[in-house]
Amino acid sequence: MIQLRNVEKCYTAGGQTTWVLRRINLEIREGEFVTIMGPSGAGKSTLLSILGLLDAAWAGEYYLLDQPVHRLKPKERNELNKRTIGFVFQSYHLLDSMTVYENLDVPLSYRNIPRAQRVSMVCDTLDRFHIVGKKDLFPNQLSGGQQQLVAVARAVIANPKLILADEPTGNLHSQQGKEIMELFKKLNDEGTTIVQVTHSEANAAYGHRTIQLKDGWIVSEEKAARVG
Ligand SMILES: Nc1ncnc2c1ncn2[C@@H]1O[C@H](COP(=O)(O)OP(=O)(O)OP(=O)(O)O)[C@@H](O)[C@H]1O
Ligand SMILES: [Mg+2]
Repeated sequence: MIQLRNVEKCYTAGGQTTWVLRRINLEIREGEFVTIMGPSGAGKSTLLSILGLLDAAWAGEYYLLDQPVHRLKPKERNELNKRTIGFVFQSYHLLDSMTVYENLDVPLSYRNIPRAQRVSMVCDTLDRFHIVGKKDLFPNQLSGGQQQLVAVARAVIANPKLILADEPTGNLHSQQGKEIMELFKKLNDEGTTIVQVTHSEANAAYGHRTIQLKDGWIVSEEKAARVG
């Protein structure tokens, strides 16, 4: 599903080049659940945003569902993103001018789904995430943990083929965090490919394998001792 060949990224400021990702070669098969771990600043979020087609400023080759991402035009990349990916941002990125309900409806608006069905999908999701009472609030009226729940709900609502989640439970109570991981496991069992970034060994145990990043390099790939 995902193939990266020699993907590299750097920032240049004041004549100085800082490498953030180095010669990343990575293959992720459809139906896999992969964890990315590594110290702060290792490049995890950077890698995830490249996988999520949110960043175009990098070198190398990236094939997603056999499409050469490195050759796609911005519009095509955007279309592919909307059709196939649910992304949970480390800092949520909810739309501030929209209510919780409206935020959840956005991914559905990209698909060809009749209005009545959209309403029932949003209601089911509000219910599943225990946030029915928050549906008319705006993101800045929610706690950090509640915003994170909405961000996860938004990423999964349209049943994307690929879920990319950056520290999706970092701000949640441990029980809520566990519920999110159980939900990911269920979606993965049903065929959704998942790539998560986490600092938590407990969350990593839900994945099939863990990729360790350090200073922009993949330093190891190992099979996880799996939950369940
Ligand atoms: N716009 C930018 N300009 C310069 N350097 C940047 C920029 N954005 C990110 N970086 C650098 O890229 C490196 C990787 O950042 P990234 O956010 O991917 O780390 P991370 O592994 O996700 O860390 P964390 O665990 O803290 O979230 C960091 O050293 C960061 O300073
Ligand atoms: Mg990060």
